[in-house]
Amino acid sequence: MEALTSLDSMQLSFKEHFGRESEYTFFSPGRVNLIGEHTDYNGGHVFPCAISLGTWALAARRSDDRLRFFSMNLPRMGVLEFPARGLVYRPDASWANYLLGVVRMLEDAGYVLQTGFDVQLCGNLPSGAGLSSSASIEVLMAVLLNELCGFGLDRITLVKLAQKAENEFVGMNCGIMDQFAVGMGKKDCAILLDCNTLQYRYSPLDLPEAAIVIVNTNKRHSLTSSGYNDRRRDCELALADLQKVRPLQALGELTPAEFDRLAGQITNPVARRRARHAVYENARTLEAVEALEAADLAKFGRLMDASHVSLRDDYEVSCRELDLLAELAWKHPGVIGARMTGGGFGGCTVNLVQKAAIPDFEQVLREEYTKNIGYAPSFYVASIADGAARLA
Ligand code: GLA
Repeated sequence: MEALTSLDSMQLSFKEHFGRESEYTFFSPGRVNLIGEHTDYNGGHVFPCAISLGTWALAARRSDDRLRFFSMNLPRMGVLEFPARGLVYRPDASWANYLLGVVRMLEDAGYVLQTGFDVQLCGNLPSGAGLSSSASIEVLMAVLLNELCGFGLDRITLVKLAQKAENEFVGMNCGIMDQFAVGMGKKDCAILLDCNTLQYRYSPLDLPEAAIVIVNTNKRHSLTSSGYNDRRRDCELALADLQKVRPLQALGELTPAEFDRLAGQITNPVARRRARHAVYENARTLEAVEALEAADLAKFGRLMDASHVSLRDDYEVSCRELDLLAELAWKHPGVIGARMTGGGFGGCTVNLVQKAAIPDFEQVLREEYTKNIGYAPSFYVASIADGAARLA
């Protein structure tokens, strides 16, 4: 997918809205998770990568202490203005809350802005599609302020701060995966991250014959209003039951065999299924990375498929649109593996597809999906990108 607009028109727009030239340009990617879904806040593993779709920021320092923001994606909201200190959540500030949250978390950690900034955003990530448009913006702001204010914070601290902004300021109780992938992404690599310890390693995605194709249901999801926080609670309930019989910090510490032996301790059957997903998905993720690194793409694909089934049946975060896209993909001869990706309840599937089969794959899915759902899906062949950074 192309940039929404060229850098030239971003600069023109900046001048039009702020009455001067921009001084700095930053880019922050979105992310797609290959496997390891709803494992991050359960102390398990995830395997995401940063993608070349994302958000650009143009910025200029101000001589006063005002923050002024403009989004080219939501031009009708106009330029929004805030003080640089003492920020609180503002329902009317919509997308700007992701930026305000980062400013506030920095301030709470002792990193106070000495000047204001004019910041314009422009993104080509479909919003509400499960590709982390919010983490993209949060990490973008954290990296931008860290550099322009000379705070000297390391990347992982910025990633955690961005997650904190989303948890405490925006009120979405997400795990660390999205901000980590956006902040720590590396070109042509996926990241195996242990969300319990934050130990990670890069795994090269060397796929000469295959590509990662993201298919958007174009059904919007809303994580806060959806069952995301409910799922977290279900898992906490299950963990509390297990802790009565075994010292345990997180579900991610259990192997599937251990879980099967202990599962009877979880009194609520729904919580038991949620926990089963978390434990099995974590094991699947480790197995999948091993398969990928042994060039066993077929096995990696089977584990992707199994991940979808578990998210659909045990975790119940899929929906009719995602299931249909996954089923159509599983039937296609050029598909190695397919699953829903991200929080669920809408959003996208991630598909590992033989390069030569991509045109037919897109045609079949577009036709069948449109026939059944009434509108078309969108397709993005993902390029795996670096994490957020200042552009020269
Ligand atoms: C959302 C959250 C992540 C993670 C995924 C599910 O994207 O922001 O922290 O929990 O859902 O894997």
